[in-house]
Amino acid sequence: MEQPRYVTVDVPAKINLRLAVGPVRADGYHEVVTVYCSVSLYDRLRASTAGEITVEVVGPQAALVPLDGSNLAVRAARLLAERAGVASGARLWIDKGIPVAGGMAGGSADAAAALLACHRLWDLDLDRGELLGIAAELGSDVPFALHGFLAVGTGRGERLRPLEAAARLHWVVVPSGGEGLSTPAVYAACDRIREETGWTPEPPRADDDLVGALREGDVPGVARALANDLEPAALRLNPALARTLDAGRAAGALAAMVSGSGPTCLFLAADGRHATAVAEALTAAGYAPVLAAGPVPGPAVVDDGRYPGDEAWHKAMSAADYLGER
Ligand code: C5P
Repeated sequence: MEQPRYVTVDVPAKINLRLAVGPVRADGYHEVVTVYCSVSLYDRLRASTAGEITVEVVGPQAALVPLDGSNLAVRAARLLAERAGVASGARLWIDKGIPVAGGMAGGSADAAAALLACHRLWDLDLDRGELLGIAAELGSDVPFALHGFLAVGTGRGERLRPLEAAARLHWVVVPSGGEGLSTPAVYAACDRIREETGWTPEPPRADDDLVGALREGDVPGVARALANDLEPAALRLNPALARTLDAGRAAGALAAMVSGSGPTCLFLAADGRHATAVAEALTAAGYAPVLAAGPVPGPAVVDDGRYPGDEAWHKAMSAADYLGER
């Protein structure tokens, strides 16, 4: 394949259908068992040939995204170049559709998209395992962001076991209008609440009810099994979220939960039509909901500069297909 001059990747947000948080480990991370699910809210990242690694962000929340070396997409491109032993640069352009600091792993999504795009842009030949290893160094949620669809995450979330699912889940997503929540602050608040109540967490375990309901396409069963151990901490740091959750329940959602470390709130609906009705009721109550469905496939190369006239371009290449070629 000829080396492209630019590569465009669409990457979905994630939600945690279950987030069981265990004890703090010696390295400061918490032992978790989580069920990750990709949902149809996307960031688009384009990497184009350049001498240095730089980033530009567009979209309504662009001002909230750092553009320096702390940007996760920049860190991802730098780490990939270092590990692959290349001196290549890339101009990264990100169109943010995923809520920023919302508990939907938007930063991790951009890191995964940057890995995939730069890997193709620089014509590298790392295998899937090597890329997942680099992803795990960048953040606990980045391996799943590279993988997508549905998986159980253990360790600090970076060790993945893919899941099959018949369930197609329809979500109403309410991003916070205001500031996001910092993930370390939410984990710290979770520890404080546990100290205050004298509760010592056990090592977390997988939830077979949830996995079974997902496999069988049992949406009410999924609704009953949704749970997020970080929710009390997110509610303590942002008490207004309790009203948002109540509003979604009053709007008829099957279940209401905070997404990851928050503050985005998620409402599960029975099907697409029900999701629209829940969203309309939330809009009437003064919220700004968006619809999403999942699980959806992980990041996909949607354009690598060979359009038009190349059949391969017309088939959007998923990360799994693309890396499977390696
Ligand atoms: O891995 P990542 O950089 O996304 O984690 C951000 C922060 O979230 C960590 O520094 C830590 O404070 C917290 N965290 C945790 N346990 C996890 C994952 C994240 O305490 N399993």
